[in-house]
Amino acid sequence: MLGQDLRSAASAAGHEVLALVRAELDITDPDAVQRQLAQARPEVVINCAAWTDVDGAEGDYPGAVAVNGAGAGNVARAAAAAGAWTLHVSSDYVFDGAKRQPYLESDPVAPLSAYGRSKLEGELAVARAAPGRHTIVRSSWLFGNGGPCFPATILRLAAERDELTVVEDQVGCPTFTGHLAPALVDLAWSAGSAVEGIMHVAGAGACSWYELAREIVARAGLECRVHPGTTEEMARPAPRPAYSVLGTERGHTAPRLPHWRQGLGEFLAAEVPAR
Ligand SMILES: NC(=O)c1ccc[n+]([C@@H]2O[C@H](COP(=O)([O-])OP(=O)(O)OC[C@H]3O[C@@H](n4cnc5c(N)ncnc54)[C@H](OP(=O)(O)O)[C@@H]3O)[C@@H](O)[C@H]2O)c1
Repeated sequence: MLGQDLRSAASAAGHEVLALVRAELDITDPDAVQRQLAQARPEVVINCAAWTDVDGAEGDYPGAVAVNGAGAGNVARAAAAAGAWTLHVSSDYVFDGAKRQPYLESDPVAPLSAYGRSKLEGELAVARAAPGRHTIVRSSWLFGNGGPCFPATILRLAAERDELTVVEDQVGCPTFTGHLAPALVDLAWSAGSAVEGIMHVAGAGACSWYELAREIVARAGLECRVHPGTTEEMARPAPRPAYSVLGTERGHTAPRLPHWRQGLGEFLAAEVPAR
């Protein structure tokens, strides 16, 4: 999902782009990654490849961490060897959600889920493999027109059903990949000490999944009632942070994205053009 928007954003910014899917490059194969990057000799490498099945990771942590941990390290190591800057994408799920004010880059991490632990392993692996030559961007609640995502699921379910129940006690920052991608391109190509290390970049504003679902249904003009539910009532295999709003202490070096409502409007304009 993010990878498709990144390819478009980087091309639109005038960069020559080599965008590889898993069938072309498996990041768990260190030799293949090393060969590919030594041959391409890129200026920057942006890693969007990940095991993103949050619930599935609970039953296969070795599988998740092979991609999100060791795989992320393979990419950063090969990028550093090729003289490239690494921009790695990480997640708000490295936090436990106990805070009630926006999480800053220096806040302690304490992932609740196997997915969150695997993403944290990736951050550590990237920092080890490309010291002083990487940016780790933590983002959250991604949605976009290039892949399955929460708004697309709600649009489908709300068209099929009269009523939906959606969790109200998880709050975060929905982030439109069409907004995140150009910001990542700018960051990656301004490589240097100002952008080195961890940076939080997410859609402005915050809401619960319930509020987001209501907004989607209302703006798409669908006749479906949306009810608030609790995490406890709607148990899922992976625990999720109750609060994972991302703030930043990186000043003007951290890009500020538009409000999630604006992102949702752009998403819906592409998904539901005739309404
Ligand atoms: N989605 C969110 O809400 C969210 C929130 C915060 C951060 N993030 C992070 O943002 C990044 C992009 O996420 P996304 O939502 O765009 O995910 P996505 O649509 O699931 O894309 C992940 C891609 O990684 C590929 N991949 C998986 N294993 C691979 C491997 N071993 N080698 C090469 N490619 C592999 C997948 O290929 P297949 O389709 O073949 O499996 C897929 O194309 C990820 O790092 C994710 O952790 C996502």
